[in-house]
Amino acid sequence: MTVTNESKVFYQTNELAQRMQVEQEEIDKLIIEKNLAQHDINGVSCIKQDDLEGLIQELLLSLDIPYKYYEIPEYLKNCTSAWAQTLVQMYENKITYPASISPNQGSFLRSLVSNFAPKNIVEIGCFTGVSTIWLASALEELGEPATVHSVDLFVDILPVLPHLCGYLTNPFEYAQKSLENAQLSHRVKFYKNNSREIGEKIHEILDEPIDFLFIDGDHTIEGCYNDFVLYYPHVSNGGYIILHDIYPEYCDWEGPRYLIDKFIKKSPHFELLEIKTSPVNYGMAVIRKLGTDKNLELVEKVRKTAIWQQIKHKSIGNFLKNRF
Ligand SMILES: C[S@@+](CC[C@H](N)C(=O)[O-])C[C@H]1O[C@@H](n2cnc3c(N)ncnc32)[C@H](O)[C@@H]1O
Repeated sequence: MTVTNESKVFYQTNELAQRMQVEQEEIDKLIIEKNLAQHDINGVSCIKQDDLEGLIQELLLSLDIPYKYYEIPEYLKNCTSAWAQTLVQMYENKITYPASISPNQGSFLRSLVSNFAPKNIVEIGCFTGVSTIWLASALEELGEPATVHSVDLFVDILPVLPHLCGYLTNPFEYAQKSLENAQLSHRVKFYKNNSREIGEKIHEILDEPIDFLFIDGDHTIEGCYNDFVLYYPHVSNGGYIILHDIYPEYCDWEGPRYLIDKFIKKSPHFELLEIKTSPVNYGMAVIRKLGTDKNLELVEKVRKTAIWQQIKHKSIGNFLKNRF
């Protein structure tokens, strides 16, 4: 649990110990060894949020936990472009595995952009900016004046097992810095916001339809569905929509699969290609929009009505709920 004191955020060390599955003494020892400040707030030992990233790194080293990361392909290591070298550095950070797309998935995405040459890209779920760099680097190579519009909450969430996933105090700053290092800042516009809020005004933000939409944000059924319904009407006919994490048996997320099975597959308005991915088969779907899907529009209308809001938790609503 975080504690806010004099507008600074602190983490309780007993809770950190629990999350990292170590004894609290282990954490206390490291705090002393590394000269980090320990704060007593209402009788509970805490450390400042700014010290957390370093503490977790130190803990990782001291616990000697096998370091899991994506294997970096030779072509990326050998590529001297700033974007490729930045990606190599990012893939060396524990935070990217498995939350970010792998190098194989990234180069696939990059190749789609290079071939399709979209006028613009909207990305939902940027995280640290790995996928953003893959996308933006393709636009840069094409040389046309096209931009990646990238939406993310960029919130600092301490993962349940930070020693397995790593931790970033300020993901927004990290993403901005990474884009700078990749020399691609001019290709990307970040929106630190909920995808829902941006989706509702996307027609005001863009003066042309979306040519390429990459959805890798909220992977719950509700979240994924909302993103799709909000953004897809603004995708150009013939434009592409890419979903990440489509195989729940590997990635543990239900949203993208649900969307594909309930709507995309059944609609004559989309072409669909499911792609197996490696080294982890979270999968990607390449969807081409052929026209506007009336069924989705109808379902969205029903969802917005007051009556739906009232009945959705009652059994009478089940016949409607099954459509979602
Ligand atoms: C799996 S990560 C994206 C990984 C990224 N595409 C990459 O390859 O590096 C999912 C991201 O979605 C963001 N997210 C989740 N729900 C969101 C929402 N409602 N609006 C905006 N971003 C959201 C999270 O903050 C997180 O950074």
